[in-house]
Amino acid sequence: MNKTAIINLKHYQVSSGNRCESFLSKFIGMDTPSDTRIIFALNPIDLRIAKGFPELNFYAQHIYPVDFGASTGQYSIESLMDLGIGGSLLNHSEMRVPESHIADTLDKAKSMDFPVVVCADSSGEAEKYSALGPEYIAYEPPELIGGNVSVTSAKPEIIQSVVERCARNSVPVLVGAGVKNNNDMKKSLELGARGVLVASGIVLSNDPLASLTSLIEIL
Ligand code: G3P
Repeated sequence: MNKTAIINLKHYQVSSGNRCESFLSKFIGMDTPSDTRIIFALNPIDLRIAKGFPELNFYAQHIYPVDFGASTGQYSIESLMDLGIGGSLLNHSEMRVPESHIADTLDKAKSMDFPVVVCADSSGEAEKYSALGPEYIAYEPPELIGGNVSVTSAKPEIIQSVVERCARNSVPVLVGAGVKNNNDMKKSLELGARGVLVASGIVLSNDPLASLTSLIEIL
């Protein structure tokens, strides 16, 4: 089964703006198992950097249901594709949007084969949004984001319920919040998810490359 790890660079100082390229450079030549996909989710301010790193995979952290035109401060799927961005997160806990924004974005994204990962903070929300056809639902309980307790140890039953409810719409699940290490990745797979959405455990690590390498190493 293919596994996915999305590394959300958020807007941490070490991974954004002037420091984004040097942060990403750490992962060039990284040894990645063939069944594992690693994706870096870039802050909007850094999306143009993607073209300079053709060997890495990039998603945006957010997406809008707009076309090219009079859309101040927003950007389209077309412009992301022009920049070499392969997909996007949507409805992250730190960037929640109304259901109509999600439905309109997914309608357009599906017509363009542009993958969108919709974040959800409960099993009910996960099932509701899975019916709209995202690439993944990413289940993240907001209270655990950025902390030291992993969703995989704090919410195993809810992860299983999210996986079951999203399976009704044939949508796989990622889990995030407090994910730090290989045990969290393993546990997420055991619970039926396909991988993780992680930020601080990698971005704020003293050795981000070692932390990511160890996170995805399934023995
Ligand atoms: O998008 C990932 C995120 O919200 C989880 O953050 O720092 O708990 O890995 P963190």
